[in-house]
This record gives sequence, structure tokens and C-alpha cells, in this order.
Amino acid sequence: MNIVVLAGGLSTERDVSFVTGNGVANALREHGHKVILLDVFMGYSDKEEDLTGIFERSMEVSVKPAGITAQVPDLSAVKKSRKDQSGCLFGPNVIALCRMADIVFLALHGENGEDGRIQAAFDLFGVKYTGTGYLGSAVAMDKSLSKRLFAANGIPTPHGIAMNKANCQWDFRKTGLSLPCVVKPCCGGSSVGISIVRTEEEYQKALESAFYWEEEIILEDYIKGREFSVGVMEGRALPVIEIAPVDGFYNYKNKYAQDGAIETCPASLPEGISIKMQHYAEQAARVLGLDTYSRMDFIMDGNEGIYCLEANTLPGMTPTSLLPKEAQAIGMDYGQLCEEIIRISLKKNPTA
Ligand SMILES: Nc1ncnc2c1ncn2[C@@H]1O[C@H](COP(=O)(O)OP(=O)(O)O)[C@@H](O)[C@H]1O
Ligand SMILES: [Mg+2]
Repeated sequence: MNIVVLAGGLSTERDVSFVTGNGVANALREHGHKVILLDVFMGYSDKEEDLTGIFERSMEVSVKPAGITAQVPDLSAVKKSRKDQSGCLFGPNVIALCRMADIVFLALHGENGEDGRIQAAFDLFGVKYTGTGYLGSAVAMDKSLSKRLFAANGIPTPHGIAMNKANCQWDFRKTGLSLPCVVKPCCGGSSVGISIVRTEEEYQKALESAFYWEEEIILEDYIKGREFSVGVMEGRALPVIEIAPVDGFYNYKNKYAQDGAIETCPASLPEGISIKMQHYAEQAARVLGLDTYSRMDFIMDGNEGIYCLEANTLPGMTPTSLLPKEAQAIGMDYGQLCEEIIRISLKKNPTA
């Protein structure tokens, strides 16, 4: 097949996305596909060009990503570096190349990729893509909305409230929550802007750092315990993976550093607990409308209480990512996982 792997973009997870994209592109090439790795924002070439036969030159045309540093990328520098300074997210030739592909593998993470807007645009352009459609993506991206749907459907989630900059309660005592608690941007990812608040003094700083990224944030009970994640493919849960960050919580650095966290899959849990978590993951995918693949994050407290934190609709596929490790546990290697994602995505929307 001729495949565009779409990565980069303008979210805080730009660099992570390139690493996902590079991994996916290489694996699909090994399986015999012609793959162009494309930066959705920077696009390909700013000259008028005949694109006929471009998949024959796919390696030369592909971006060569640099990797993930410990810092979130400087997005304003990325914005300034594009020759055409239009407000269009899609860089030169992106739509044309995507329309020429048999399928676009979405290796994007975060805003403009995981939030459903690209999916909606692609639906209108008749472009086939991997993963959940626009509506499920948009709902899952919003942690506040997801939590309400979890709660309404019997999926336990930490008690919390949403606030935006305009109606924010800066006095912690008036929030009705107790310490410690967690402050996070409503639609972010990769733990960017998240703080664990242990004192009232820390609360205002946490608000400021979350509002730096977004207008809307959530404030929820801190759950002390073990962290897990469960991938779901076509409605069926993969084995549970446990993540034990080496220090602190599962923050940006621990997520992408080679030794940032110890991951165990299948997790060492009593069978009944694993089954319960897998059941909640499947339920979460169902109530949010995530029909191809997704990955739900959980925390379990000291009393075996399970809480679903969030759903990821384009889970990471970097070498340190969780979903490939879960697939490995059922004997599916990285390349097979990429193929499987394509297969179920094409099956979902055969006529798009
Ligand atoms: N309520 C909570 N209690 C304890 N830790 C939390 C809580 N919410 C988030 N965290 C920590 O922050 C990390 C990221 O939170 P999450 O809600 O999964 O957002 P994202 O991964 O999209 O940034 C979690 O993996 C966990 O380490
Ligand atoms: Mg998470």
C-alpha cells in the first residue's frame, strides 16, 4: 500500500509524535509498504510540484525526525519557521499527499490530531485514516467530559471539578476538594502542565502552570497507588500493563526517558482485578465511542479501588510506549500491531 504516516503538528507532543511516526513508518516499510513520513504542519516542499509517482521516492520525501528531548518543544519557533505564515494547520502538499495515499496512519498526539479535528477534515476530503473518528476523538480528548461519561456509566474515576480561567476558584478552601489533589489541563497529554498539589500554597502555582497551556482545567482527588494502562482493540482489552515511574509521578520526562519507568506486562495483579480493569477499559472505549483502538489509564489505591484517569485515542507508539508492549504480551510484534491498526481502521470505514 501507499501510506502517509502523519506526525508532528503543533501540539506539545510534537516530538513524541515524530518518534511514534518514525517507528510506524519503518515497521510498515519492512512489511513492504511505500511510506511517506510527513509533518502535518511543515508539509512537503513549498514549490509547485507534480506529485505523480511520489510514493516511489517515499524515503527521500520523508522527514527525518530528531528525537525527544527532556523539554516540551518550542512551538512558536516551529510556527515561525514555516515559509507561508498562513493560519492553515496543514502545511504545503499535505492534503494532496494524504488524498493520494491508500490510508493515512495518524501518528499525531495531542491537539490537532488526537482531538478529532483532523479526522473531521479528512472525512470531508474523503481521506481514509487510522483510529477513532472525529466524535469519539473529541470526546475522549476532553478529560472533563470523559469523566462525566465515565461516572454516568459506572466507570469509577477520581472525584473532580472543571474550571476555566474566567470562573476559576483561586482559594483552595472554597473548591470543596481536599489535599492532596491534582491539577491538569483539560485537553492536554503527556502529563504537560499537570501538578500534584500537597499544600494550599502549591495550589495557585499549579493553576498558573495548567492555565499556561489551556483555558480549561480539571482539579481532582489525588489517588495514591499503582498505575496501570489497558489497550483496547476493536472492543477487546489487551493485557494490563503496570507502570512504576522511577521517581515522582508519570510525568513527561519519565514517560519518554529510556529508564523513566519500569513497565510490567502482564501486570502482577490478582486475576479478578485484572479482569475488572480490562472490563472498565472496554466499557470506557464503548461509552466514548472509541471503535478501533485506544488505551485507558488507571490508578489503583491501597484498597484495590480502581480509578480510570483518561482515554487516549492515538496512544503512543514510541520504543518506550505502552500499547506495543501490551500487544507483545499476546505475541503481536510492533509491525504486526501497525498492520492490525490499519486492518481494523479500513474495516471500519471501507467506503470512505
Ligand atoms: N488523580 C490522580 N491521582 C494521582 N496521580 C494522577 C492523577 N491524575 C493524574 N495523575 C498522574 O499524572 C499522569 C498523567 O495524567 P493523565 O490524566 O493520564 O493525563 P495525560 O497522560 O493525558 O497527561 C498519570 O499517569 C499519573 O501519574
Ligand atoms: Mg495518561
